[in-house]
Amino acid sequence: MSFTRRQILIGLSGLGVVGLGVGGARYWLARPENVATHDYELIAAPLDLELVPGHITPAWAYGGQAPGLELRCRQGERLRVRFINKLDVPTTIHWHGIRLPLAMDGVPYVSQAPVLPGEYFDYDFICPDAGSFWYHPHVASGEQLGRGLVGALIVDEREPSGFLHDHTLNLKSWHVDEQGAFTAFSVPREAARGGTPGRLSTVNGQHVPTLDLPARQVVRLRLINLDNTLTYRLNLPGADARIYALDGNPVEPRPLDKEYWLGPGMRIELGLQVPVAGTELSLRNGPLRLATLRATASADPVGEWPAALPANPVAEPDLANAQSLTFNFEWAGAVSVGLEQGAAHSFWQINGQAWDINDKTCADRPIARLQLGKSYIFELRNLSQYQHPIHLHGMTFKVLASDRKTIIPYFTDTYLLGKNERARVALVADNPGLWMFHCHVIDHMETGLMASIEVV
Ligand code: C2O
Ligand code: CU
Ligand code: CU
Repeated sequence: MSFTRRQILIGLSGLGVVGLGVGGARYWLARPENVATHDYELIAAPLDLELVPGHITPAWAYGGQAPGLELRCRQGERLRVRFINKLDVPTTIHWHGIRLPLAMDGVPYVSQAPVLPGEYFDYDFICPDAGSFWYHPHVASGEQLGRGLVGALIVDEREPSGFLHDHTLNLKSWHVDEQGAFTAFSVPREAARGGTPGRLSTVNGQHVPTLDLPARQVVRLRLINLDNTLTYRLNLPGADARIYALDGNPVEPRPLDKEYWLGPGMRIELGLQVPVAGTELSLRNGPLRLATLRATASADPVGEWPAALPANPVAEPDLANAQSLTFNFEWAGAVSVGLEQGAAHSFWQINGQAWDINDKTCADRPIARLQLGKSYIFELRNLSQYQHPIHLHGMTFKVLASDRKTIIPYFTDTYLLGKNERARVALVADNPGLWMFHCHVIDHMETGLMASIEVV
């Protein structure tokens, strides 16, 4: 097939059903007539990047970019991605935060076979929720995400949100040295602690870029943490910024506090009142500058603060009748196979069970079985000295309480569980399947901190 993505878009939206060759046809036949389409052909392939000036980094990219091509859909509409693997390793795409059928979830040996070099796979699902999401492989994640296979998936609201300016800021710290060569994505002694951090911070693939924003407008900034390891302590000193959404779900707009801790996999959407032309703001991780936001002259009239974004159609858990389940996240280094290089390390456990990335049958032994349609309360208990962004596939949960901080209940797919923190979250088990439940610090996930939860 030699057509470009543009031709696919025109072909499908203009003519309806178009033959795309073997494999595509069965999806087109199943397509509801009245649902608009968002069709992409997305290629994963090697790409040389110049992250360090004058040096080449042998990255892997989606759609010729790392971070990957930003995909966009509209709430309630169908996203179709013909994913073509032009790498020389097997891979998949997982759609982080999207509530979709299991067959589209991108988990090898659970929802699909890995996509082999030279093969393609048609992802095809409705995006039920509006917000900022992202996509990444679920195979050899440390290396594949580390080399750049990460990208934003933005689902627009059904109706205009009131924001006229919308910018995605992809945060990633690359594991590269001063010559741009990759360094280890996971080092055992780091994996057993907070995870292996990268060295070169980037926003949209550039180290400390200057981003121009229209003066005196209210812009929507979608910050996506698609890093393997880092929790960003985000702050924007002197800015008038309000939080509009967390991890793909709207919240009642409130001022951005001094610092918001954005763990791996998490997203925050800010409304930012851009100051007068010529002013610069510093987007920071703790004291470190990630990017300069520069206000540039704009002819538009002064922008207004949009109202809260409309809630997503996530079922409200029935707390009075919910069953409680406890999940202990613990360090298991003491009973691991040791620290020698090359061994399959097992540093972490959930309820005494460590996931083994080399064992394709782990998911067949779910850590919990939930009954379809019932409500559950999960008690999340971190028994370790390191924080864990706890992520669930397939369903959105509501964060209710924590013993460490005041929680304004909100819906999310990833909760940053602090050191020794206990938190309570709840959900309606409304999506049948076998769903991964894991820490999004990639080398924690690859050294035990993953499990499956079955909904039947
Ligand atoms: Cu972004 Cu299994 O997750
Ligand atoms: Cu996910
Ligand atoms: Cu972790």
